This record gives sequence, structure tokens and C-alpha cells, in this order.
Amino acid sequence: MASSSYSFMQPLLLSIGLMLCGTKMLVEGQFAPTPEPDQRNFQQDMVDAHNEYRSSMGIEPLTWNTTLQAYAEAYAKQRSGDCALIHSHGPYGENIFWARGPGIENARYAVDGWWGEKNDYDYATNTCASGKACAHYTQIVWKNTQQIGCAYVFCTSNNGGYWVVCSYDPPGNYNGEKPY
Ligand SMILES: *[C@@H]1O[C@H](CO)[C@@H](O)[C@H](O)[C@H]1NC(C)=O
Repeated sequence: MASSSYSFMQPLLLSIGLMLCGTKMLVEGQFAPTPEPDQRNFQQDMVDAHNEYRSSMGIEPLTWNTTLQAYAEAYAKQRSGDCALIHSHGPYGENIFWARGPGIENARYAVDGWWGEKNDYDYATNTCASGKACAHYTQIVWKNTQQIGCAYVFCTSNNGGYWVVCSYDPPGNYNGEKPY
């Protein structure tokens, strides 16, 4: 997603995640029923997942912020009808994820999916493999980001997909800057 058309210091707020769980998921009628994630643990699971990954890179942890949470919840509500991978274009960094099928009962599944982009990211050159997205990963490990708030919805379309958004402040993904 990191486009060279963005000027230096302009935040690249757009990082969209889409994960399909294997080719079976593409066959109509083969979808596993959408399990309900454990709502009681969503906030803690999301913070823990981010901080586990940040800590593995020697980066300071994030804290949960209820303003960011409210922003994420309001936007998630807005997307609940279509589950679309569209950004809110708000003031925060924003990672979006959508999936359906086994695995989504774990709240942190979205973070684990974003983290997978690490394999396509080259720190030395601060570039992403051709045709790949790395901006979710770089937002997770963005050193100057201090706080997050996330929300999820189950969509009424897309066979009940699990749609997750995290808002990050200060936002990461400034073009031309390394995450850490
Ligand atoms: C939460 O985030 C908002 C928006 O960036 C900020 O104004 C507020 O100070 C933060 N709250 C705390 C307790 O850090």
C-alpha cells in the first residue's frame, strides 16, 4: 500500500487486510458458521497481540484509548451492513481486516493476519514485495504510535464475515520513514 505518490510526512492511513482461509472458503455453501468471538476478551486480546509483536521487536507497548475505541466502534457500525474494506479517512492510523471461517473466534486473529505481512517487508530498503501489502505490519510496529482502540462487527453480507478495525494514534506509515 505504501505508494511513492505520497509526499514525505504525509500519513498513509490506508492499510486494508483481507484474509481468506484457504481455497475452500471460496466455494459457495462451504462456509463454516461464524463463531462469536469472546467479547469479554476482545480489548485485552487486541492489546496483548499488538504488544506481544511490538515487544518481540523491542518496541514500546501500546495502551488502549477509549476515544479511539469509540471512533472504531462508530465506524464498525457504519460498515456492518456491507463489511467493505473501505477506510474511514479519519485522523488516526487505521488497520482493517475481514475474514470468515475457522479461526475468527479468536479476537487477535486480525492482528495475527496483519503480522503475516512481515514476511513481505524488507527493513533495509523499507519496501514491500511487489504486489504485496505491508502497511498493516508497519503500523503494528510503528514506534511513535502510542495508543489503539479497536472494534469489530459481524456483517449481514459476505456470509457473516468478521470485520475488524483498529485506530492508531499517533498514526504510522509516514512515507519515507521507517517504522522503527
Ligand atoms: C485518547 O486519544 C485521544 C485522541 O487522540 C486523545 O485526545 C486523548 O488524550 C487520549 N486519552 C488518553 C487518556 O490518553
